[in-house]
Amino acid sequence: MTNLLRAILLSGLLLSLLAFSDDRATSGQSGAYDQPFRPQVHFSPRQHWTNDPNGLVFFHGEYHLFFQYNPFGDQWGHMSWGHAVSTDLLHWRELPVAIPEQDGEMVFTGSVVIDKNTSGLCGTQPECMVAIYTGHRSTPEQTRQTQNLAYSLDNGHTWTRYSGNPVIDLHMADFRDPSVFWDDREKHWVMAVSLPTEHTVRFYSSPNLKQWADLSDFGPAGDVDGVWECPNLLHIPGEHGTAGMWMLKVGLNPGAPQGGSGEQYFLGDFDGKRFTPSSKPGAHGWTNYGKDDYCAISFNHLPRGSEPVLLGWMNNWQYASKLPTSPWRGQMSLPRRLSLVSDKEGLAAKQDPIVASLRGEKVALSFSGNSAKTILEAPFELEIKFAPGDEQVFGIRLYSDATHWAEIGFDREHHQFYMDRTKSGSIISDDFDSRTTAPIAADRPLDLTLIVDRSSIEAYAQDGTVAMTNLIFPASGRSRLELFSKSGKLLAAKASAWKLRSIWK
Ligand code: FRU
Repeated sequence: MTNLLRAILLSGLLLSLLAFSDDRATSGQSGAYDQPFRPQVHFSPRQHWTNDPNGLVFFHGEYHLFFQYNPFGDQWGHMSWGHAVSTDLLHWRELPVAIPEQDGEMVFTGSVVIDKNTSGLCGTQPECMVAIYTGHRSTPEQTRQTQNLAYSLDNGHTWTRYSGNPVIDLHMADFRDPSVFWDDREKHWVMAVSLPTEHTVRFYSSPNLKQWADLSDFGPAGDVDGVWECPNLLHIPGEHGTAGMWMLKVGLNPGAPQGGSGEQYFLGDFDGKRFTPSSKPGAHGWTNYGKDDYCAISFNHLPRGSEPVLLGWMNNWQYASKLPTSPWRGQMSLPRRLSLVSDKEGLAAKQDPIVASLRGEKVALSFSGNSAKTILEAPFELEIKFAPGDEQVFGIRLYSDATHWAEIGFDREHHQFYMDRTKSGSIISDDFDSRTTAPIAADRPLDLTLIVDRSSIEAYAQDGTVAMTNLIFPASGRSRLELFSKSGKLLAAKASAWKLRSIWK
């Protein structure tokens, strides 16, 4: 081969590589995101494994989603921080790995803050992004988890590890998932971090992200089966401008009421040092009553006045390694705005999925008896207000074919809202074969919003005070809707449906 020919061929190769990386970084991504079960309104990495969302933060007009990522395969391992950005919390653009595993240290879950150079890590810049993450080292003799810093001077594109790492080392095998925010009252940073096997969240404060002082411990409290992971302390506003409250959310794995991974929350007060749960009814609940929403965290530094936004990993450690998806494995929940409900029933965290901007055509639903003639193709959104009269058990079934359906309903006899996926399609493990339930509150409305994607159903009931997310693997993305009631009589309901636009087109 002549040198000239080689130069031409090489430049052609370079051009096609550039075109590939450019394609990755623009929204011309639909082909790469069109496999069976590929989420259309939820984020999933283009390829390989993901678990928890990490470092959710808003900076310079962009939302950043970092995530537990294996850059080398579709099973857990080599944990690094993947990275994606969005301007609307829905359309994500995946970027190269932000913080890779290095020298045998995996990069576990953590958070990102915008530091007005309290750390001195921003150099001459007035502010910069600082990640606080758990470093995980494991040898046959010893496992050690420590808290560490990395910083970015270019809006999160490239990261440098702090030379003084680790910033907290308790010489423990289980000590992880720091969640850090700026406490404006006390003018210092606050970290909530988990001592998983002790069912304790420890709070620390710091003036500069480098030196940390003990504030207090919370727990054991609530459910203490399994270990505690992924704590998140945040202030949530009251509905309609009423006073808000602090919420401490913590993951539990295994041993959640629905089996495997789940997340409980406590509503109460944080006085700058200590979190004290309220004694009102409803102060202890679950952020999700389905099986598939874990390690949700809230966005840091949202524009002033906006409500906190929570986003989780839509999966469960019981079967996360078995999802029948390729070339990726793992996906995130929708972002959900959080607020506080305080009513006759007591307290509750309310979640409002952010999805309205994806609404396309409103579908005119036509029913014959309880059965809709309309077929809906995932992704779609469905809102139903039931007027059940004396019916004790009622709801809706989504049939993907004659013998497969998911059933979502209210069972007043047992005071339960539920989702049954036992006939929904491929049952990937015994633990997947489930009917999940949540208590219903008599004084809250019997409404239901469903966001149905190609491999998931997110349900919000009772004015968003109950969230229930479950994965499904049906043979097709098509759903025929059927209302049902235990008596078999016609069920009165007002339903609206919208097609949702794919985030990848
Ligand atoms: C929760 C978790 C975290 C940990 C991460 C490791 O899903 O176990 O506690 O930081 O995953 O990938």
